[in-house]
Amino acid sequence: MDRPLSLGERFRVRFGADARFYRAPGRVNLIGEHTDYNEGFVLPAAIDFHCLVAANRRPDHRLVVHSEDFHETCEIELSSDSISRSQTWSDYPVGVAVHLQRAGFHLQGTNLLIHGEVPIGAGLSSSAAIEVATAYALLSVSGCSIDRVQVARLCQEAENEFVGARCGVMDQFVSLHGRAGHALILDCRSLDYELLSIPDFVCLVICNTMVKHELASSEYNRRRAECEEAVRRLSEAVPGIRALRDLNPEQLERHRALLPETIWRRAQHVVSENARTLEAAAALRAGDLEEFGKRMAQSHHSLRDVYEVSCPELDLMVQLASGQRGAYGARMTGGGFGGCTINLVDKQHAEKFRRQVAKAYENGTGLKPQIYVCSAADGAGLVTPEMEFKETT
Ligand code: GLA
Repeated sequence: MDRPLSLGERFRVRFGADARFYRAPGRVNLIGEHTDYNEGFVLPAAIDFHCLVAANRRPDHRLVVHSEDFHETCEIELSSDSISRSQTWSDYPVGVAVHLQRAGFHLQGTNLLIHGEVPIGAGLSSSAAIEVATAYALLSVSGCSIDRVQVARLCQEAENEFVGARCGVMDQFVSLHGRAGHALILDCRSLDYELLSIPDFVCLVICNTMVKHELASSEYNRRRAECEEAVRRLSEAVPGIRALRDLNPEQLERHRALLPETIWRRAQHVVSENARTLEAAAALRAGDLEEFGKRMAQSHHSLRDVYEVSCPELDLMVQLASGQRGAYGARMTGGGFGGCTINLVDKQHAEKFRRQVAKAYENGTGLKPQIYVCSAADGAGLVTPEMEFKETT
C-alpha cells in the first residue's frame, strides 16, 4: 500500500517548493481560570498536540494560506490596507499577518500550509496554536527576530481585534513559553513567569466532554463585562485599583455592599481563584500534589457555583474522575460551557482511569468522550530535521 504523503511532500505538491516547518502547541490550564483578563495569575502547560505549519517565501508580496483541516485556500495582498475579516478559519492567520505588519514587521510574501492536530472547539486553544505557529513561520521566513513576549501579545491582539474574540493572553503565552515536563505560573499583568516542574510520575489526562454549548462566547464576554463593572464600582472605595487582581479577599468582603449580588459573585471567584493559583503553585514547587489537587477541586466548585461557567457534562466528568484511584485533582479547564476537564493522574493508573471514566461518562450521558493522556510539551519553534520525520507525516 502507498504510504501517505508527508506534510513536506504535500507542500511540494501544492506550492512546488521545499518548505521549512514550524509548530506551536495547544494548552491545558491546570488552575487560574478566568483570571487572565483580570490581570491575575494562571498556571497552564503546553500540551503535545500541535499546529504544524509548512512555509516558504514567495517572490511577490502575497500571503497564500491553505488549511488542511478546512480544505480551503485564502490569499491576500500583504501591502493592501483594506484587509477585512471573513469570519472563517482564515481570520486567525490573516489577523496575525495584519497585526505583525501593524507592529512594524516587514513581512515577505509567503506560502503556508496549515495542519492542526489540536482538537478544534474543545477548549484546548487550537486557535492560539494556529496564531502562534503562523506568527513564528511568517517572522522566520521574513528574516525577523522573534521576541516571544511580543509575539504572544500580538497574537492576542489579532484575536481580540481582527477575529473579534476577547480572550486574555494565557493561551498564546504558554504556546510560546511552555517547556516539556513543566507547567508555567504566569502573572498576566507583568508577564513574569516561572516554570514549575511536574513530577515524572503523573500525567495530564484531558477528558473531552464532546459538548460545546452555544452560549460559550456570549457568556465569556458577559463575564468580562461583569468583572469590569466590579472594578468600576469598587474604585470609588479602593483608590488605584485597575483590575480585580488588585483586590484581596478582605477588601472585597469589606466593600460587598457596593456590588450587586451577581457582580459580587464574579469578583469573589476571581479574587479567590488568584489566591488559589498562587497556593497551587507553591504546592507544586514543594511537590505536594495532594494539596495541588485540593486547589483544583476548589477551583472547579467556584467556577460551577460562583462564576457559573460550568455545565452538567463538565460537572459529571469531574465527579467521575474524583473517585478514581491515582487521581490527585480534577476540574474544568478553559472558558467553560463544555470542552474539557483536566486531571492530574498517577501514570501507573492512567490507563484504568481513562477506561473507567470513559465508560461511566458514556453511561451517564450517552456521549462517547475522548480522553487524551498527555504530557507537558515545549513551546513553539522551528521543527528540526530530526523531529521532521515524526511531525510531518
Ligand atoms: C479562554 C480564553 C483564555 C482564558 C480562559 C479562561 O480559554 O482564551 O484567555 O480567559 O478562557 O480562563
